[in-house]
Amino acid sequence: MYQTLLTSIENNVLTITINRPEKLNALNKIVFTDLNNALNDIEKNPLIRAVIITGAGPKAFVAGADISEFSDYNKDQAMAMSKRGQDIFLKIERCNKPIIAAVNGFALGGGCELSMACHFRIASENAIFGQPEVNLGLIPGYGGTQRLIQLIGKGRALELLMSGNMIDANTALQFGLVNYVVKQEELLTKSRSILETINSKAPLAVAACIKTANAVFDKTTNGFDLEIKEFGNCFATEDMKEGVSAFLEKRKANFKGK
Ligand code: COA
Repeated sequence: MYQTLLTSIENNVLTITINRPEKLNALNKIVFTDLNNALNDIEKNPLIRAVIITGAGPKAFVAGADISEFSDYNKDQAMAMSKRGQDIFLKIERCNKPIIAAVNGFALGGGCELSMACHFRIASENAIFGQPEVNLGLIPGYGGTQRLIQLIGKGRALELLMSGNMIDANTALQFGLVNYVVKQEELLTKSRSILETINSKAPLAVAACIKTANAVFDKTTNGFDLEIKEFGNCFATEDMKEGVSAFLEKRKANFKGK
């Protein structure tokens, strides 16, 4: 189905594995096209309720944009490439189903940016994060200058952006870039277990969590106003009535996403 992605669905959780291990899963044009198509399917496919993105092989999540595609780009082509990457990563961030990054090794450049576009990140002990673009005379182009600051603060982010320094998984945990650090063999189990918990909740409420959280960083939306609207919308759902009834009747809620 995809040239550069492996996919599998288990318990309504889609796992997407970026599959170019010989190039440390670097993001070339085909990976972006495949990711874009996968995201369109995620939005439409009711069997998919949550997504894990990870990398093939034991060494890398994604070691960046594919540098071999850079050499003959001019300014306009570079801007188009940045825009396309940003648009696809925004689709991840704005997806109404949870998408998490299971970071299983190097997450550099576009790989770090891909992980940051996901709703949160879980890392294996060998994960390494960084935005080394400055070594190439570049800056991040897929939202990294913005999301790194959102996630770890301006001082830490600017140090990483300007130095090109990399950080290990425990530093990423300390900075709040990742939620957990686990052994590599436990990475997918831990990711699935968290998504199974989320999948047991009301899907429309989960979607509203994502939407309102994104509003914090959207200068065109008043997040508090959006929260009022989404809070009200929840009261118009069958699932909210079911959730409240189940609590009062001391039973487990059976949510239907309606
Ligand atoms: N784009 C294209 N190819 C890449 C790549 C990238 N971002 N990152 C790694 N590769 C390729 C290497 O060229 C090499 O291919 P080859 O075997 O055909 O020569 C293969 O992946 C393995 O990488 P290698 O450098 O041999 O592994 P390593 O363990 O010695 O080093 C890294 C690992 C991640 C430190 C190193 O590959 C690296 O610095 N990559 C670039 C990171 C980067 O700058 N990313 C931001 C891009 S904007």
